[in-house]
Amino acid sequence: MSLPTHVRLVEVGPRDGLQNEAQPITVADKVRLVDDLSEAGLSYIEVGSFVSPKWVPQMAGSAEVFSAIKQRAGVTYAALAPNLRGLEDALAAGVKEVAVFAAASEGFSQRNINCSISESLKRFEPIMDAAQAHGIRVRGYVSCVLGCPYEGKVNAEQVAPVAKALHDMGCYEVSLGDTIGSGTAGDTRRLFEVVAQQVPRAQLAGHFHDTYGQALANVYASLLEGIHVFDSSVAGLGGCPYAKGATGNIATEDVLYLLQGLGIETGIDLDRLIAAGQRISQVLGRANGSRVAKARSAQ
Ligand code: HMG
Ligand code: MG
Repeated sequence: MSLPTHVRLVEVGPRDGLQNEAQPITVADKVRLVDDLSEAGLSYIEVGSFVSPKWVPQMAGSAEVFSAIKQRAGVTYAALAPNLRGLEDALAAGVKEVAVFAAASEGFSQRNINCSISESLKRFEPIMDAAQAHGIRVRGYVSCVLGCPYEGKVNAEQVAPVAKALHDMGCYEVSLGDTIGSGTAGDTRRLFEVVAQQVPRAQLAGHFHDTYGQALANVYASLLEGIHVFDSSVAGLGGCPYAKGATGNIATEDVLYLLQGLGIETGIDLDRLIAAGQRISQVLGRANGSRVAKARSAQ
């Protein structure tokens, strides 16, 4: 399969990146991050989550963040919604696109959203109905597509029915998440081969965490499988509170560098993106997790 000429990057740093941080991060710092990212040319930014603050305290200020960001034309500002309450809160905050999240393993589903996979799919149905009534699009996630922190290796055959269920209920795109970052390029190719029999490739996305250092190879393997949407996190921020030891998503700067080298267009300015990543890394008092940003700032 030939490589695409254009790839869309879904920036999940303000949500997946920050949700795991124990230290308080001010609304102003979150807003600045989102604004820096939109100014760098990201066209899709996951800004926050309308989840229970008991489960993920860091996302509690998501409504305030939404009301303070500068919304640029042509940029999608999205949020996670685990249930109808989350969708209603998102709508009240003016959110125009939400994402629901399921898992391919029962163990992770229970720990992350306190219900079974089939219960979660049922819980999403009223979200889909209400979203449709308000004319907003819903993206779907499947977590633990290559491995689970509680159950070990996960087969593509476990992922396909969950991805299909999300697609069938109306998710316009289904993002497959290697939550613990244990998958290899071979696993990734097989995953998309199997899932693409149920959901068209054009409606699938790759979401790779870099725990085992495989994320960039997995993005390349996905490109070879005809996938052209990837989730990434500026400065490689993040992890999932219910997947111990999982590092951040692949750094947006590093995916962008790969894509530029392949002559694939994204519309993102690498220098401005690096500046955004450096700023939030300083706020958090962390080393920048992007190899490209580290290399560039050492020059
Ligand atoms: P539960 O405890 O079963 O639900 O949680 P509940 O209905 O019994 O509610 C418990 C309390 O939460 C109640 O408050 C509710 O009002 C409140 P109380 O009466 O005890 O004071 N509540 C809410 N508050 C605010 N917003 C809401 C909401 N819903 C209930 N929407 C629930 C079930 C789904 C709510 C919970 O498990 C939850 O919020 N989980 C979210 C976990 C999460 O955000 N994980 C990280 C995102 S997923 C991820 O990172 C993976 C991804 O990146 C892809 C990948 O890498 O694989 C997407
Ligand atoms: Mg994730």
